[in-house]
Amino acid sequence: MEQDLHVRDRVGVQDFVLLENHTSETEFIENLQKRSKEELIYTYIGSVLVSVNPYKNLPIYGSDYVEKYRNVNFYELPPHVFALTDTALRSLRGELVNQCILISGESGAGKTEASKKVLQFIAATTRKKASLETVKDKLLQSNPVLEAFGNAKTNRNDNSSRFGKYMDVEFDFTGDPTGGHIINYLLEKSRVVFQAKGERNFHIFYQLLAGADDALLEKLSLKRDPNQYVYLKQGESSKVSGVDDAESFKIVRDALRVMEIGDEEQEALFLLLSVIIHLGNIEFASGEGDRARINNPVLVSTIAKEVKGEVDVEIVFLFDKFFKLLQCPEDKLVKALLNKTIEARDDVVVSPMGRDEAVKARDALSKSVYERMFTWLVQRLNRSLQSAVEVKKKIVLGILDIYGFEIFQSNSFEQLCINYCNEKLQQLFIELTLKSEQDEYRREGIAWEPVTYFDNKIICDLIEEKHKGIISIMDEECLVPGEANDKTFLNKMDKLLSDHPHYLSHAKGDNKTKKTIEREEFRLLHYAGEVTYNVKGFLEKNNDLLYRDLKDAMISSSNPITKDVFTSSELNSKKRPDTAASQFKTSLARLVEILISKEPSYIRCIKPNDVKKPGLFETGIVTHQVKYLGLMENLRVRRAGFAYRRPYEGFLNRYKSLCPETWPHPKGDPKSAVQTLVNHLKYGENDYCMGLTKIFIRLPKTLFETEDAFQKRKNVLASMIQAKYKGILQRRKYLIIRARIIRVQAMIRRFVAKRRADKRRWAVQVIRQFVNGFMKRNEPLNSANEKFLGFVRFHYLMRLTKQLPKSAMDKSWPDAPGSCQEANNLLQSMYMKWMVGRYCKNIAPARKRQFELKVLAEAVFKNNKKSYQGSISKWFIDCRLSTEQQGPFRSTFEVNVKSQGETILYSAPVKKFDRHGYKERERYLALTKSAVYLLDAKDCKIKHRLTFSDITGITVTNSQDNLIVVRIPEDDKKDKGDLILECQSLIEALTWIVDTCNKRDIIRFESATSLTHHIAKGKPGTIEITHGGPVTGISKGKNGHLMVAAS
Ligand SMILES: Nc1ncnc2c1ncn2[C@@H]1O[C@H](COP(=O)(O)OP(=O)(O)OP(=O)(O)O)[C@@H](O)[C@H]1O
Ligand SMILES: [Mg+2]
Repeated sequence: MEQDLHVRDRVGVQDFVLLENHTSETEFIENLQKRSKEELIYTYIGSVLVSVNPYKNLPIYGSDYVEKYRNVNFYELPPHVFALTDTALRSLRGELVNQCILISGESGAGKTEASKKVLQFIAATTRKKASLETVKDKLLQSNPVLEAFGNAKTNRNDNSSRFGKYMDVEFDFTGDPTGGHIINYLLEKSRVVFQAKGERNFHIFYQLLAGADDALLEKLSLKRDPNQYVYLKQGESSKVSGVDDAESFKIVRDALRVMEIGDEEQEALFLLLSVIIHLGNIEFASGEGDRARINNPVLVSTIAKEVKGEVDVEIVFLFDKFFKLLQCPEDKLVKALLNKTIEARDDVVVSPMGRDEAVKARDALSKSVYERMFTWLVQRLNRSLQSAVEVKKKIVLGILDIYGFEIFQSNSFEQLCINYCNEKLQQLFIELTLKSEQDEYRREGIAWEPVTYFDNKIICDLIEEKHKGIISIMDEECLVPGEANDKTFLNKMDKLLSDHPHYLSHAKGDNKTKKTIEREEFRLLHYAGEVTYNVKGFLEKNNDLLYRDLKDAMISSSNPITKDVFTSSELNSKKRPDTAASQFKTSLARLVEILISKEPSYIRCIKPNDVKKPGLFETGIVTHQVKYLGLMENLRVRRAGFAYRRPYEGFLNRYKSLCPETWPHPKGDPKSAVQTLVNHLKYGENDYCMGLTKIFIRLPKTLFETEDAFQKRKNVLASMIQAKYKGILQRRKYLIIRARIIRVQAMIRRFVAKRRADKRRWAVQVIRQFVNGFMKRNEPLNSANEKFLGFVRFHYLMRLTKQLPKSAMDKSWPDAPGSCQEANNLLQSMYMKWMVGRYCKNIAPARKRQFELKVLAEAVFKNNKKSYQGSISKWFIDCRLSTEQQGPFRSTFEVNVKSQGETILYSAPVKKFDRHGYKERERYLALTKSAVYLLDAKDCKIKHRLTFSDITGITVTNSQDNLIVVRIPEDDKKDKGDLILECQSLIEALTWIVDTCNKRDIIRFESATSLTHHIAKGKPGTIEITHGGPVTGISKGKNGHLMVAAS
């Protein structure tokens, strides 16, 4: 909008209500001029579109523009006919309200072009669907057909519509176009027989001559040159610059085809056209008794061309060209062209016509044929436009493109009708805009100073009022038999209307006026200007009579169209047909009814110059149009009151974002919310007014400021919406992902739970089996306890592996469950064996020897000798001699013994007690494989050598003492009896001896308190063993016994 405002500022204003001085016509025209100079041909007055004819093609109707204007608010884009159409369409679709677009303006102002743009926009913006394309195509293609037959080159417009057209485009409730309907109004049929200089007959005549191929022309007995035909050459301008009639003919034929008018019907149309063309060339002369006579009867036969009697089809084919044109009996036609039959009551009078009358009758025939053909064509188009399927609720958009106000040099009946039509439409416009605008203020309770405007009702009444109006007077005159003529009609008007402020005539006018009005003229002061009409031909045209004979001739024609449009019922009807003016009046009244029931939109077309020149803006011409179109009044009413008004809801909806209290949700009713909003926007007290249902804004500036603020705000809102939208998108994505995750989670949880449940079930099973197995653990292995026992075994074994003794010395062994007891014992012993075995395997020979000796010592002394306990912890060694003692021992004794092949196994110091007197002597005990030696400690000389056979036994006490008594047989001569020794390492020494002699029983234990020892050749000595004394040791007792103090 802001941007648009700049454009608006640069090139006038887009809406006239924005004009600084809205009452200044000059400023209004200047604005139009400024804009049309920049090729901005459209400007608004509020919602009315003013369009200035550019007289050149502008690049503003392409599909890009269609897209731009589609579904965009009216005032958001520069003014355009598309914007107006779009608004009407949206209202039609959105509210299902019938619409109509009223296009008005002078001839050549661009009405027909505007109506085509409206259709173009409708076709382009409705849905693209195959079934709709045909409908749209037909709607669009009806135009070239109607233009060819109903438009002509005039001095004002090269393509002037010579008929009024109201077209309904029908929609179904979804907004798809389903069909259409055309109503045509008063064709300017006089053009068929006469054209003013510089003008042409209807386009189709020239198109036919230029575009038809030779064969067709020959069939129609026509020449290509229009100047050969009276009806086509009177304007002396059979060519329109920039228009290719031949090309147009092709377009028309294609369009006819689209409208489902096939070749046959097309041919019938062309035949009638050729009939009319030829009729124009019939020449009449005054014959006998002023009777008309035909100068060129051959032409009449050409027109009539008929084959009499029954004809073979093949011949018909062969002579095809003779069957065409009117196909009516020639004599009938000739008769009808020269005579008239008048029925007066029961009398039928045939009277020949004079030359002039015959010419008129011929022209009447031509006009009538053309007019009826045109009506037929419209009906055919309507048949084709009819929706193919029954539409229940039809909504229509009407487009009214009717001839513009006309003022010619000489104005006739047609101009009166055309201008009357424009008066009626102006009246409607006043009703619906100027009046309704002011009514609205009243309705809304707004203080309002009424704006005066010219209400043309008075002129409408002047023309149409019953009994007093011009049409009534004219009709009455037509009814008057005999004398009535145009003159009497004028007199009557003078008589009856002389006081009317809008009626002037020569008779009635003052001298000054008299000079400007001829005697056979009258002048009407139309809303759009003064128009002087010449009454000549008024009654005749109004009567619109076609003589009975000519009708009859037409009825006998076998052309399919004339057959349709001329019927014998017409001949037989006694009722006088309505006059042309009355018919027109009725049809206009119906049109007003049609329009008033719809929501109107207006396009006011202005032509900037009379010479069809682009870029030329003639202020005078434009001013005149602005005036008579009532644009200034329109603008005044718009501005004097309030430039803009909006229902509260609409206003609030658009601008609520500008006030924190109304955004996003306004509080209270819309009116109070709008009040809050405008207070916030700081509207001045006089800037606006609050109506009952609408807010009225006085100056456009206020609205634009608000609009601009809104545009700025829109950016903020857009960002917010974007953010929100992005948020929503992301959230949507997030929710999808979340849902998926939850699903996956659920599935995993389900899976896990299922697995856990299975496991639990399995566990219960296992526990049950376990408990069962536990309860039956003591039963012999069976299926019930098999698993439990297996488990027990397994765990027992596992536990065992961790609790196995680490050494052979460790006697600990884990407990075993009952069922494994046997295995446990086996395992324990196996394991111990294995441990011991391994220990043994790893034991050193010396140590092994040690253990062998220790085991031997145990076997011999355990429980037999008290001092055994003390020996256990001491390692046995093989030599108890000190280092000093060892020196002589080795050098003397060992060397000696070795030389005899013996090795010393053990040696230790001992005390030897003499058998007599028990004297103590230091000795060394030495052991070899074969004998025990006692050596003198001093010199290591052998004192005793006892082989093991020499020794009968060795006696020791079982007490804690070191006494050794070596028993020697009494008969041994070498020795003097048993040897009494004291050895500190008694257990060790004796173990060595037992080991060496390998006789355990060599050791004898004596538990008695005394023992005897044998003395050679003497009486045995006694050794007493005492216990518990303070000292231990062996000594000689006072009683001569050897005393051993043991502990
Ligand atoms: N919007 C436009 N763009 C380009 N040329 C235009 C436009 N409007 C009108 N014209 C030109 O002006 C000529 C006259 O326009 P148009 O036939 O629509 O006038 P009209 O108001 O229908 O006149 P009449 O009342 O005679 O039928 C067109 O043939 C065309 O050349
Ligand atoms: Mg037109």
